[in-house]
Amino acid sequence: MQATTTSMLHFYEISPLQNFLWQVRKEGKKIGFVPTMGALHEGHLSLIRRCKQENDVVVCSVFVNPTQFNNPEDLAKYPRTLEKDAQMLEKAGCDILFAPNENVMYPQKTTLNFYFGHLENVMEGKFRKGHFNGVALVVSKLFHIVQPHRAYFGQKDLQQFAIIRTLVQDLMFPVELVRCPIVREANGLAMSSRNQRLNAEQQATASHLYKALKKAETMLAENSVKQIQKSVKEYLLNVRGIELEYFEIADANTLQIVEDLTSFQGDLALCIAAYVAGVRLIDNIVIENFSRK
Ligand code: PAF
Repeated sequence: MQATTTSMLHFYEISPLQNFLWQVRKEGKKIGFVPTMGALHEGHLSLIRRCKQENDVVVCSVFVNPTQFNNPEDLAKYPRTLEKDAQMLEKAGCDILFAPNENVMYPQKTTLNFYFGHLENVMEGKFRKGHFNGVALVVSKLFHIVQPHRAYFGQKDLQQFAIIRTLVQDLMFPVELVRCPIVREANGLAMSSRNQRLNAEQQATASHLYKALKKAETMLAENSVKQIQKSVKEYLLNVRGIELEYFEIADANTLQIVEDLTSFQGDLALCIAAYVAGVRLIDNIVIENFSRK
């Protein structure tokens, strides 16, 4: 632990953090956890605030996890703003910042492999091979280190949430997962650390992803999946600077792709991924209790 002039505690090593949290648990306090890769924005802060409301002690980790990047350039360019992050966390009411380096989190090379069945073959799993293996690895490590009662994740990474839910169920982590709503800019653009790599014009272009999702939403009642997909593609073809990677309609909980809307009942997700100025962005809308009946 390092003494700071502020009340938020900073930890960089595992043992001092664990010793501290052991005492917190002994006092019967609830620990809430928000894992992040830093470059924080209002979306992360909404998780911190919710975590603060529902727990006695809020822990946030900031670690840019190398094993979840399948593109070395993406890893190199990922914004690293720890000092600013720490100030934002402190202001939002975070109690503990855990900011380990790579040697702390990966003291030896691991060959561990997770397999998440169909989740590996659709959307993010299909286009970012190995990504979820890295996420599962680091989240498992973080859950073991922090042993939180609750952990908070954003809905923007919907498929990640499904992966982590599977991880928690299958490995019996005693943690309650909380999915929090997407926070958007005024123009609809979903907040993301990657937005920092876009200028104002590019961010305005990127906001068309949300507009495309909203358009798709209006078509759900009367159109087929194919018609909706065609319309989203056509809409985005007319926006200069967006390169669509996928648009899918899926079950919001299992992420199984939905091909027939007439028979689907349940929470539906419209999911999109695209490049704007070389930056890969994702977004989604969840429609709860969808049914045409
Ligand atoms: O969502 C993220 O920021 C990351 O994937 C996570 C969960 C912190 C793991 O590195």
